[in-house]
Amino acid sequence: MPSIKKHYKRITTNSLLEMKRNKEKIAMLTAYDYTFAQLVDASGIDIILVGDSASNVIAGHETTLPITLDQMIYHASSVIRGVERALVVVDLPFGTYQSNSKIALQSAIKIMKQSGAHSVKLEGGREVKESMERIIQAGIPVMGHLGLTPQSIYKFGTYSVRAKNDEEANKIIDDAKMLEKIGCFGIVLEKIPAVLSEKIAKIVKIPVIGIGAGKDVDGQVLVLHDMLGMTQDFSPRFLRRYLNLKSEIINAIKKYTSDVKLLKFPNDSEQY
Ligand code: KIV
Repeated sequence: MPSIKKHYKRITTNSLLEMKRNKEKIAMLTAYDYTFAQLVDASGIDIILVGDSASNVIAGHETTLPITLDQMIYHASSVIRGVERALVVVDLPFGTYQSNSKIALQSAIKIMKQSGAHSVKLEGGREVKESMERIIQAGIPVMGHLGLTPQSIYKFGTYSVRAKNDEEANKIIDDAKMLEKIGCFGIVLEKIPAVLSEKIAKIVKIPVIGIGAGKDVDGQVLVLHDMLGMTQDFSPRFLRRYLNLKSEIINAIKKYTSDVKLLKFPNDSEQY
């Protein structure tokens, strides 16, 4: 029977390894601001990802490509101020690590110094190996991200399930082994067949966190605004909505607007 095996005061990369060894599943969610980060952290989440999905969710862009390093640092530093327990991972945004490993290291250092975050995440396998190695050598914990990598959306053309053929599946397996070998502390697998993720989670000793990658991995991640039902125009099969906040919020704001217009707010006890 799966269970919570141990109480952790603060989650570190070592705690995550221990959780995998103890078969305790790892729970990860995104957050982009102080208020939500406080709520997510207080709820006992293990990892908070300051994802470049902020580009979609917060800034309203169609893809993750436009978000900048300084914008990620703004989000990450706001999150860090609200977190006491979770490990905070920050996405290196598109264009800040692909060109060469020196630039990648500079980007990672800038995030760590200016936001106070605990680690960074990079998308891709062998293509970004050198960048990852250099960042790891500098003492910065790195998480990998394989499968559907949204920063490469224009290469893929669609957000459909990846690695349905053997060639792509084998590449992901080899990349996952490589990420473990160079010292990544974990891997996100996005939107790949469950049997493939299960295989990878068995092969590598580092935690494998899935999003649309089935249940037989070491943990799960979702975008906070999606699982709270604040966004409604995105409904992939893997997304479970735990709330329907969009209609709750709209109803509350409609009520407020009507109260203001009908002179029902403020009342006598709500003034000085
Ligand atoms: O940016 C993000 O939110 C992510 C998750 C989808 C894993 O990378």
